[in-house]
Amino acid sequence: MIVLAIESSCDDTGAALIEDGKRILSNILSSQDEVHKRYGGVVPELASRRHLENIVPVLRGALDEAHTSLDEVDGVAVTRGPGLVGSLLVGIMTAKAIAHAKALPLVGVNHLMGHLLAIFAEQEVPFPFIGMVASGGHTSLYLAEGFTAFRPLGSTRDDAAGEAFDKVAKYLGLGYPGGMVIEHLARSGDPKAVSFPRAYLAKDSLDFSFSGIKTAVVNYVRAHPPSDDGMADIAASFQEAVVDVLVDKVIWAAQHHKVDRVVVSGGVASNSHLRERLQHEGEELSIQAHFPSPFLCRDNAAMIGVAGYHLLNEGKRDGLDMSALSRWPLGKD
Ligand code: KG4
Ligand code: ZN
Repeated sequence: MIVLAIESSCDDTGAALIEDGKRILSNILSSQDEVHKRYGGVVPELASRRHLENIVPVLRGALDEAHTSLDEVDGVAVTRGPGLVGSLLVGIMTAKAIAHAKALPLVGVNHLMGHLLAIFAEQEVPFPFIGMVASGGHTSLYLAEGFTAFRPLGSTRDDAAGEAFDKVAKYLGLGYPGGMVIEHLARSGDPKAVSFPRAYLAKDSLDFSFSGIKTAVVNYVRAHPPSDDGMADIAASFQEAVVDVLVDKVIWAAQHHKVDRVVVSGGVASNSHLRERLQHEGEELSIQAHFPSPFLCRDNAAMIGVAGYHLLNEGKRDGLDMSALSRWPLGKD
């Protein structure tokens, strides 16, 4: 079964063709980082306009790269939410038009389910596992019991982990998006130079909070204006604090639910320090950590195709009246 998938929930326009929920025939992404860079964050109005310009060329690119046509497609999957409504609508309208014109089944996919299943485009992971999505919009933990069965365990109460990277990078004048620049700078810094707070909340809580650490960085920099070397130390210390919390909480979740596997996805999961720390600490506790390749960690349409395949396979269908959902908690419907 070949699924055409479309993703446009935030600032990346993506289209992909996925065979049998695991083989990527094509996965095209048009990033808007250049558009939003100067504002230090995503501007919703500009994002939806850019999606409109990009969607057709991106779709064509996906069909060309897979050497296929819409006649070979068996179903259409599109991100329905959560995300920016104006952005979501561009993908949803396109998906509806194709499904209607070609009389294909259509399914709306939860973006978070896409992140959690991205790994299956590269490897089989046995259920159950703990899934963590750490991105610019989300930091959430789930118990994954099957392809379409996710139990929410905790999520951020304020900023997402990626948002904290972006805001700290913006404050330090390092550019946007912040994750990659901070990771790069952190390589030459001392992670123990500054002791930033780790917000664990209540004992054993699986919720997150990242706004305090952002304020702590701002206060520290005001009190101790850094030299160039000092900047690297701040980046490394900040990254260490965020990684400590992410690693500890995903491990607690695995131990609490007695599962020996964790899957981490979302843009922040490309962070090599996080990947190394979790692999290492997981190994010591016989917990296996899986990460998709960085290109599948970030927003992309292939992950929506994987999730869409499993939903369609279970008989899930949406009609041409499907709406966009700016908020759509996974596992609560
Ligand atoms: O998954 P994604 O592409 O989009 C969302 O759904 O948000 O994630 C983007 C986020 C941004 O906040 C970015 O700064 C962060 O992921 N990110 C990273 C790294 N690469 C991207 N954070 C930490 N380390 C990285 N290497
Ligand atoms: Zn995302």
